[in-house]
Amino acid sequence: MAYRLILTAAGKGERLGHSLPKALVPLADGVPMVAYTLRRFTQIPLKGPALITAPPDQVEMFHSVLQSFAWPWAVQLIPGGNTRQESVRRALETLSDPEDIVCIHDAARPFIEADTVLACLNDAKQYGAATVAVPSADTILESSPDGFLHNTPDRAGLWQCQTPQCFRLELIRKAHQEAERQQWSATDDATLVWRTGHPVRLVPGTRGNFKVTTPDDLLVARVLAQGTTENACMYRIGIGWDLHRLEAGRPFILGGARIPHDRGAVAHSDGDTLVHAVIDALLGGAGLGNIGLLYPDTDPAYRGADSMTLLRDTVGRLRGAGWVPVNVDTVVVAQRPALNPHLDTIRRNIADALGISIESVSVKPKTAEKVGPEGREEAVSAQAIILLQKRGG
Ligand code: CTP
Ligand code: MG
Repeated sequence: MAYRLILTAAGKGERLGHSLPKALVPLADGVPMVAYTLRRFTQIPLKGPALITAPPDQVEMFHSVLQSFAWPWAVQLIPGGNTRQESVRRALETLSDPEDIVCIHDAARPFIEADTVLACLNDAKQYGAATVAVPSADTILESSPDGFLHNTPDRAGLWQCQTPQCFRLELIRKAHQEAERQQWSATDDATLVWRTGHPVRLVPGTRGNFKVTTPDDLLVARVLAQGTTENACMYRIGIGWDLHRLEAGRPFILGGARIPHDRGAVAHSDGDTLVHAVIDALLGGAGLGNIGLLYPDTDPAYRGADSMTLLRDTVGRLRGAGWVPVNVDTVVVAQRPALNPHLDTIRRNIADALGISIESVSVKPKTAEKVGPEGREEAVSAQAIILLQKRGG
């Protein structure tokens, strides 16, 4: 006995009215619905290949889309039929072990949870046939053909059908054969099995496992999908490093403070090593590039530039992208001058530019034991690590 998966994705999505077939419509971060839904099954102990029904004229496109993701099993595309029932029947034809439990799920239900799938598989093992469904929250009205209320069935006994639906292979194949013979048609598979007289267990699901059918559904699905991917992450970290060569007679500027010294940085800008490291940490954390890309030293506009101005500009760019700094921790490596007397000024400058409190800015000066370029006073270097938070998060 093995668990097999049929993911139905061969529909046109007429009610959605998108230019792409419904299953290829991206949900979040460019991930198409079919891949998003298939990901939900990577935690299920399935036997491969996973069978995916696709519109017959788009099998190649589905293949190349799914190839760009890593799957724990092979993925086999099945050209679908004119109806969902026909698509499922074609997929069933590729399976052979009657003892297998086949799990049939709509690619259009991207928010299925692994626990629900496992519960359905278990019930199919025990009862032969099971479908996920939810007790109807709304009262269901039956309408007459001319659009008037015809009947109000008692809500207490009504469930809304969902997928997955799981069956012993021999049962569901027989049901599809019987359906062909008797010309039954149904929009789900459990109904076919039930019509053959076999009981079907109802497995309580969640309303989150809705089917993306209309443009409204897609809006909701995209909001939910955004919330379950990287955008749900309210924090990011960034790292920065910089080094400047030192030369006699130049101003020594660090963290926006001009510190009396006999030498200073050789640089296109004011050579503020610490602020440059902080800028790179900010840009890195937000994924906005790096200091060399944004403020190139080949651009005359940045000749002798005040690095604090660049820092404030960077913070503005981050705010525009929805990120605000939480705290920054830094290390400055310089043999001389002694930096401790200037730390409060430096921290205050950086805190003000970042719009955070001085307690959230740490600067730790280090000598380099007289070795290396910093130890020999040929250079000063700085490292920064920063935490960013999503604005409003
Ligand atoms: N499906 C299928 N083969 C078909 C029709 C539908 O595999 N011939 C799949 C769909 O891709 C979907 C699921 O069955 O994942 C449920 O169908 P539905 O929500 O009706 O999707 P569509 O048929 O694509 O949408 P519409 O009815 O609006 O055209
Ligand atoms: Mg349909």
